Amino acid sequence: MIPTPHINVSEQDIIAETVLMPGDPLRAKFIAETYLESPIQFNTIRNMFGYSGTYKGKKLSVMGSGMGMPSIGIYSYELIHFYGVKNIIRIGSCGALQKNIKIRDIIIGMSASTTSNFASQYNLPGTYAPTASWSLMKKAVAIADSKGIETKVGNVLSADVFYDEDTDSWRKWANMGVLAIEMEAAALYMNASRAGVNALGIFTVSDSFTSHEVTTAEERQNSFTSMMEIALECALD
Ligand code: HPA
Repeated sequence: MIPTPHINVSEQDIIAETVLMPGDPLRAKFIAETYLESPIQFNTIRNMFGYSGTYKGKKLSVMGSGMGMPSIGIYSYELIHFYGVKNIIRIGSCGALQKNIKIRDIIIGMSASTTSNFASQYNLPGTYAPTASWSLMKKAVAIADSKGIETKVGNVLSADVFYDEDTDSWRKWANMGVLAIEMEAAALYMNASRAGVNALGIFTVSDSFTSHEVTTAEERQNSFTSMMEIALECALD
């Protein structure tokens, strides 16, 4: 039933079947204004801006997800179940957990471990492994390879806590080979899997737990552009 509580759109076809989701709604605005042809804004509720337009002639939408699993959980659920969205590509930042992963590297989240209880809603008799869509992931890796953009593909951690000052738990996840920490992919992957649609997370490393490296705004912008190019091309057939 539309409009939904969080997306004020009354006609389903205003939102494309493929949606790019940065965490920050102002980044959604920037992407729409920079990359989409004839963008229109479709959502302003809670300032969670959403836009639709075309990219190389194909209809495409971009909308902020907010921070954390409850937030992306709500928006992705409404997009999938009420607006017919079939592919959601999260584009975000992450903190590197491995020494060989540097600031500005691009990570593709094959799977997403989590500290959240999001999976408890499914009453599964075991531990679920949230996994990206193979078709989207295969495409993203092929696009990156063809553009000469290096990517690291693997497990990320979707954490519920950003300021984790009382534990050093990141080291335990790093010991298990987890590449980086972010805060949304696991919920997105679970919502998509439960609904039988596709989801993928592509991340730019913004900080490092091992080196405490810093980067300039210009460097961040360049790696953001590479991540965007992969996501946009992934949205094409
Ligand atoms: N933790 C969680 N999410 C993040 C981080 C981090 O260190 N960096 C960028 N997103």
